[in-house]
Amino acid sequence: MTKNILILPGDGIGPEIVAEAIKVLEHLRATAGLAIALDEAPVGGAAIDATGEPLPEATLALARQADAVLLGAVGGPKWEPLPIAIRPEKGLLGLRNQLGLFANLRPAILYPQLADASSLKPELVAGLDILIVRELTGGIYFGQPRGVTTLEDGTRQGRNTLIYHESEIRRICRVAFHAARKRNKRVCSVDKANVLECTELWRQIATEVGADYPDVTLSHMYVDNAAMQLVREPKQFDVLVTTNMFGDILSDAAAMLTGSIGMLPSASLDETGKGMYEPIHGSAPDIAGQNLANPLATILSVAMMLRHTLDQPAAAERIERAVSDVLDQGLRTPDILSPGMYRVGTAEMGDAVVAALNKGP
Ligand code: IPM
Ligand code: MG
Repeated sequence: MTKNILILPGDGIGPEIVAEAIKVLEHLRATAGLAIALDEAPVGGAAIDATGEPLPEATLALARQADAVLLGAVGGPKWEPLPIAIRPEKGLLGLRNQLGLFANLRPAILYPQLADASSLKPELVAGLDILIVRELTGGIYFGQPRGVTTLEDGTRQGRNTLIYHESEIRRICRVAFHAARKRNKRVCSVDKANVLECTELWRQIATEVGADYPDVTLSHMYVDNAAMQLVREPKQFDVLVTTNMFGDILSDAAAMLTGSIGMLPSASLDETGKGMYEPIHGSAPDIAGQNLANPLATILSVAMMLRHTLDQPAAAERIERAVSDVLDQGLRTPDILSPGMYRVGTAEMGDAVVAALNKGP
């Protein structure tokens, strides 16, 4: 049966990197019989410009109907003066929330070819393979009450709320333990249980869930220590599971270990495995439209889509092999460029991946 994929290019470098991912999808449709239909809609700043809203009703409706969503990136300086409630980022957060995409998988894998591009010594990152499981529809990102209020004395007070129901903690922990079972069978739950009651509950629930997975080893770590351990000895981790905001922060740190944030894909899944796929980097407005952006994170997000939602693991592996192949050829966008390698632009990188797919079985 044909699967419907909704493409949301978004802002900044979003349209450029998504165009390269579409080349890969079209190639698989033409050569591997991948039964897909692509549709496209605006989100973020592009949607604000077109309709006045970051997540138009029509875009949300298409996203609900789609089997999977591929998103580029949202946001940019043009829309920063707008109130938070109608900024481009609200388009992304609205999609996550409205589609119930509570489980965000952010793998940080070091391609051996890029060991030189990491900011850490090669021996600390060689073979790095971490999975960050980030809770995506709760916590301080969505908690009420929130906002800035003016007090009686005329001064202003800002407020956000960190709130988790035990059911939200339980379901994300289950995702982490399931993932660990297919990997190295270790889960580290990250919290701030020494200060925040909400994450003390997080720790208790993680422990309870862990009892159902006796084959997986559970450890706990405070988030400040986790940040330090990620840059001290990252290979100690297998699966990390954490709150929405801690996951946002730690996944950027983990990304840099792999050489460039331009390499990391992500999957955001609902209870049924339906998902939205996006690179973890942002819209990078400073380099937008200049053929400088790295499309590999978006292309690798397509691989995650094939594996997690479209049930095409062989096609996913083909893409991952093709990415490895272009890195073997020495092709590098500026973010991962190192001495002796060949500098290519966004479109050339996409073309090279398609050419490498052609070579494969
Ligand atoms: C991410 C991004 C988003 C987030 C922004 C763009 C709203 O940083 O996906 O990591 O904070 O979740
Ligand atoms: Mg982030």
